[in-house]
Amino acid sequence: MGDNGSVWLPDAMSTLAGEVDALFWFVFWASTIIFAMVIVAKVYFMVKFRRTDETYVPEPVEESKVLEAVWIVLPTILTLIVFTWGFEVFVKLNTAPPDSYEISVRAQQWSWEFQYQEGAVSYTEMYVPVGRPVKLVMNSSDVLHSFFVPDFRIKHDVIPNRYTSVWFEATQAGEYDIYCTEYCGTQHSGMMAKVVAVPQDEFNKWIAEQSQDLPPAELGLQVYAQCQACHSVDGSAGIGPTLAGLYGTTRPLADGSTVVADEDYLLESIVNPMAKIAEGYQPVMPAMFSSTLSPKQLDGLVAYIKTLE
Ligand code: CUA
Repeated sequence: MGDNGSVWLPDAMSTLAGEVDALFWFVFWASTIIFAMVIVAKVYFMVKFRRTDETYVPEPVEESKVLEAVWIVLPTILTLIVFTWGFEVFVKLNTAPPDSYEISVRAQQWSWEFQYQEGAVSYTEMYVPVGRPVKLVMNSSDVLHSFFVPDFRIKHDVIPNRYTSVWFEATQAGEYDIYCTEYCGTQHSGMMAKVVAVPQDEFNKWIAEQSQDLPPAELGLQVYAQCQACHSVDGSAGIGPTLAGLYGTTRPLADGSTVVADEDYLLESIVNPMAKIAEGYQPVMPAMFSSTLSPKQLDGLVAYIKTLE
């Protein structure tokens, strides 16, 4: 919660967030006022027309055409206001300005991958320039996910075999949470990342640094962001075995045999997770996990795991 958030809504940090909020508050206050009117009238009638005499039989009530017309016409007008207003904001939220900076977003169980036009790739943080529209073109490698940035008031499904897109323009530098908001399996709640909004020149600098060739283990550390939901590097058990101190040891497998965790075993466990299941763990690693990784990234990952003690 930052400077302009409240108990009701988080910070409004994109150019369209204010418009979404205005519509929200209009619906909220219209509902509240109508609710209050209904309750006040109800209590008034309860008191005024309460039964005071057991033998009393009320006169039949004549219908009032005027009253009926009013309660048909007024709600219709109100509904049409909300519809046209909502449609207008919906269209804006779905039409990225033509000069948008484009980022490819790939979702998979249970991480996000952000690919930039210049070739850079990031995982736990999506860097964007402040004050410039950013269009996300999104796709999923496995199941349904949903990309949600509360501070920007944007949320959109990420679907396998189909591109979806959403856009925003950050109004201030800062870090904003990204959530997956479509249940996608065990680590759904851990499928988080951050938008890091920085001034354009800082963004350019970051992009330039990213595109340089990294040493294999550093590249591997970057890629590891996709594994961290299930595999720790501090020795603690997760959905999968920890990667700490793994390299070079003899590993018991679920079928009772053992294997030495050399480079071949590490690589095989990444590209073909079902081949050898570690003892005490379920065969739940997505088979498609490595489908988006390049040979260089796979080598980097193996190199990184070897550095973990
Ligand atoms: Cu991805 Cu929930």
